[in-house]
Amino acid sequence: MKALVLSGGAGTRLRPITHTSAKQLVPVANKPILFHVLETIAATGVIDVGMIVGETGPEIQEAVGDGSQFGLQVTYLRQSAPLGLAHAVLIARDYLGDDDVLMYLGDNFISGGITDAVEQFRKERPDAQLVLSRVPDPTAFGVAELDAAGRVVGLEEKPHHPKSDLALVGVYLFTPAVHQAVRAIRPSARGELEITDAVQWMLEAGLEIRSGELSGYWRDTGSVADMLEVNRMLLESQERRIDGSVDDTSEVIGRVSIASGATVRGSRIVGPAVIGSGTVVTDSYIGPSTSIAEDCCINDSELASSIVLRGASFESVRRVEGSLVGRNAQVTLAPRRPVAHRLVLGDHAKVHIQS
Ligand code: TTP
Repeated sequence: MKALVLSGGAGTRLRPITHTSAKQLVPVANKPILFHVLETIAATGVIDVGMIVGETGPEIQEAVGDGSQFGLQVTYLRQSAPLGLAHAVLIARDYLGDDDVLMYLGDNFISGGITDAVEQFRKERPDAQLVLSRVPDPTAFGVAELDAAGRVVGLEEKPHHPKSDLALVGVYLFTPAVHQAVRAIRPSARGELEITDAVQWMLEAGLEIRSGELSGYWRDTGSVADMLEVNRMLLESQERRIDGSVDDTSEVIGRVSIASGATVRGSRIVGPAVIGSGTVVTDSYIGPSTSIAEDCCINDSELASSIVLRGASFESVRRVEGSLVGRNAQVTLAPRRPVAHRLVLGDHAKVHIQS
């Protein structure tokens, strides 16, 4: 079996972060989501990984390399444009050969692993096996319809009137039968070759499609809200660990991880939170569910429930919550007069102002 990890895509919902970097490399609890994906794959025993990449391929290649840091062998497969999940399978045809396929969306976070699903597939070898999870609002997902016996009888992509609350988790298992399906389908109304259409085609061709419900936690981190939620979830399960320097006037409460090379002075840090190496926090409050990456500078500020990427700085700002702050971004207090917000925002940036 080979894995196919989809790390291309446009990432429109995460603009402007995705104008300059790959969404799969945005860190949650200071580790890129893609690294969590690769660890989950390595745990199943699969070694060969075809990594689908688009414009951000060089950045992904720099971070993942040959995959040996995960015990994997990674081969990069360039997708000319994000033409759909089934298109990714189409271009991976030669790489995949006659092997079974574990297809995994590079921005999906799953806790508890997928080893059970892979084992079940290896034992029973249906033509395709879907991983499902119940969601409150299925209209945003691919949705599976099951019959009374639990067999998959239909699939729909982002349906207006969903026939179930079982969303397709971004993990699929296929025999090589998938190749005929991805060749047979046509682009959808949004111009993409949909994997749900390929599986629907397999169903209609009389092939066997099974499914299993995921017991653990799953999130597609396509939006900022989902990313913050996964960050919160991961931080809750981390251990307290203080390797950096914390002075006597600081207070560090609960499950806080302060990396070696980080400095905290005159501040209050309330976990769960993580602070990366090279970051300096001075006279500030860092609240729960906050991840601050490496080489940031937080001075005289208050920050909670947020993800701050490498090299960002905050100067005399309070209070920031529920935010995703890009690399080397600078957030500072405006002069007192005139009373005005001063913004230099990237294309498609989103700002919520409290005044
Ligand atoms: P999506 O989140 O469905 O698509 P997207 O990345 O284009 O994001 P948005 O909807 O915000 O514009 O993609 C799921 C995963 O699959 C993600 O890791 C990107 C990847 N992908 C590809 O590698 N190739 C593709 O053609 C598509 C559509 C997605």
